[in-house]
Amino acid sequence: MTDAVRRHDPSVRGFASDNYAGVHPEVLAALALANGGHQIAYGEDDYTVHLQDVFRRHFGPRAEAFPVFNGTGANVVALQSLLPRWGAVIAAESAHINVDECGAPEKVAGIKLLTVPTPDGKLTPELIDRQAFGWGDEHRAQPLAVSITQSTELGTLYTADEIRAICDHAHERGMLVHVDGSRMANAAASLNLPLRAFTTDAGVDVLSFGGTKNGLLLGEAVVVLNPDAVRNILYLRKMSMQLASKMRFISVQFEALLGGDLWLRSAGHANAMARRLEAAVREVDGVTLVRPVQANAVFALLPREVSERLQKRYRFYFWNEHTGEVRWMAAFDTTEADIDAFAAAIREEMAKQQ
Ligand SMILES: Cc1ncc(COP(=O)(O)O)c(C=O)c1O
Repeated sequence: MTDAVRRHDPSVRGFASDNYAGVHPEVLAALALANGGHQIAYGEDDYTVHLQDVFRRHFGPRAEAFPVFNGTGANVVALQSLLPRWGAVIAAESAHINVDECGAPEKVAGIKLLTVPTPDGKLTPELIDRQAFGWGDEHRAQPLAVSITQSTELGTLYTADEIRAICDHAHERGMLVHVDGSRMANAAASLNLPLRAFTTDAGVDVLSFGGTKNGLLLGEAVVVLNPDAVRNILYLRKMSMQLASKMRFISVQFEALLGGDLWLRSAGHANAMARRLEAAVREVDGVTLVRPVQANAVFALLPREVSERLQKRYRFYFWNEHTGEVRWMAAFDTTEADIDAFAAAIREEMAKQQ
């Protein structure tokens, strides 16, 4: 029994963000399972202790996971753990750490971001070199880490070989590598690779592993893959206000996600729904797909008035107000019927245009 009242229509889904989705029922069941009784707070509970085994199965025996509340927090903690106070991070201009974190890496972590424009959201060794210089120059924040996002903010993917090349390049120059893996499960599903194949085995030092976009209520984890690369995460997590007292409820969600195949089922489904949308709109005259659909995002250009009319029917965002490019995201709970109805709406609104 509850005094709370349902205030939304749970049958309504849109394409604005995988964060708009609710909690996967298997995750909710896990939360209930972890409820009741008392457990040690701040991470010494039975769920968080067990979680280390779960993460090690995916990322190898040296991995250590630090649950946190959100993705921005995971990035801020992970990057601080790699860098001294004078350190800088090389990242794509489109990186979430650069454009969508309200300056938290700069303000909270005190880290200088050295950004590089990219055509597709992906860094390469050559692009990294545009900012990888000036070591020993006291006038320049020292480039000591590289951060990439997998899958990227533009819905693209790095192959395992591309990540390995970036890690080798960075390490040869004395830089460490962070991956913002807020949609890492989507990447693994699309690449059809185990998580460690394009992280631990490719040479990544630390990652922010996403849960929220893949069906958790909330929760991400900083996952250390190379313990020699990081320092003082325990203190940095608390200082960055990312230490959950009732941590068992984040950890049990990750166990539900990663203990079996829920992570892969959910991410694979979201990717498949994005591909279904891509296939449907490819047929529509006047709609241009601007980027390859490699994970769960579809980027398209269509007449602005059409997008605005569509937005009255379905939620989604303009990605670029200037060009009119829109982003459509699929989530673990997007259905085939949702996609088909949305594609039909796109066709209807485009037809009104001609
Ligand atoms: C690439 C990327 N990194 C990190 C995040 C995490 O952000 P938040 O702090 O909202 O959990 C997001 C969420 O949109 C994201 O898209």
